[in-house]
Amino acid sequence: MADQKQTPPVSKNGGVFIAIVGRAASYNAAMTEQPRVHMLVPAAGTGSRAGTAQPKQYQTLAGLPLVVHTLRALARVSGIHSLNVVVSPTDERMQALVQSDPALRGVRVWPVGGETRAASVSAGLRQLTQAGAAPNDWVLVHDAARCLIQPEWVQDLIEACRADPVGGLLAIPLPDTLKQADDQQRVGATLRRDDKWLAQTPQMFGLGLLSRALTQAGLGVTDEASAIEAMGLQPKLVLGSTLNFKVTYPDDLRLAALVLGAQENQT
Ligand code: CTP
Ligand code: MG
Repeated sequence: MADQKQTPPVSKNGGVFIAIVGRAASYNAAMTEQPRVHMLVPAAGTGSRAGTAQPKQYQTLAGLPLVVHTLRALARVSGIHSLNVVVSPTDERMQALVQSDPALRGVRVWPVGGETRAASVSAGLRQLTQAGAAPNDWVLVHDAARCLIQPEWVQDLIEACRADPVGGLLAIPLPDTLKQADDQQRVGATLRRDDKWLAQTPQMFGLGLLSRALTQAGLGVTDEASAIEAMGLQPKLVLGSTLNFKVTYPDDLRLAALVLGAQENQT
């Protein structure tokens, strides 16, 4: 990760000027600087579908809590200014995990999670702003539960979206034939699949745009892109990997453990 300290934003020739005229000038400097890239990881869910006794993000996979795999991979992405995790206000484990892991130095833990994923992300965006991030900075939101994420996939997303006016997300073309069910759980129709993609994370948008989009969309949206779409914008689909699946059900935990174990044996 790049500089973790919250140094005030200073333009090349503006340091002294900012000191004199104070906050308004430092805000302007932040707006004209190269946008920084922040990572925001919602990890405040209960993991009800995973069927585990504890929230799935703390389930041990290949010797480490699931979320530690996620955070370690994100910490290896180059050019990231800050790495931030949103946990539930009652969470007592994340801070201790981060503090005891040298690979996670500088990771900020925010106990501001809400009732839904969108509420947790919105609260995280507010923290980022309070910590000095600028409206035109990029934010990459990544599910804690996608623990097989690889730094190079995140890098691909950043490269694909950095010059884009909207932003985008990792996704994969739908591999299977898609059926629409009726209310008897019988097939009502077979849908076209060649224009369908499965959305993944990270999803990368400007901090100001995403904050507005989530406020307008409400707390029910299940990803950032759908909030952006509701504003009439079209996020870019960037090819991800089948391995970047979200650990949701008990079988996903088993599969993720197998993949992580196999990766460990390769190194
Ligand atoms: N998440 C969150 N705050 C919530 C709900 C979810 O930060 N109120 C996070 C989860 O911790 C997870 C990510 O959003 O990393 C994706 O959500 P999901 O896979 O649905 O996780 P859970 O909500 O924990 O699981 P479930 O829906 O099965 O209860
Ligand atoms: Mg959920």
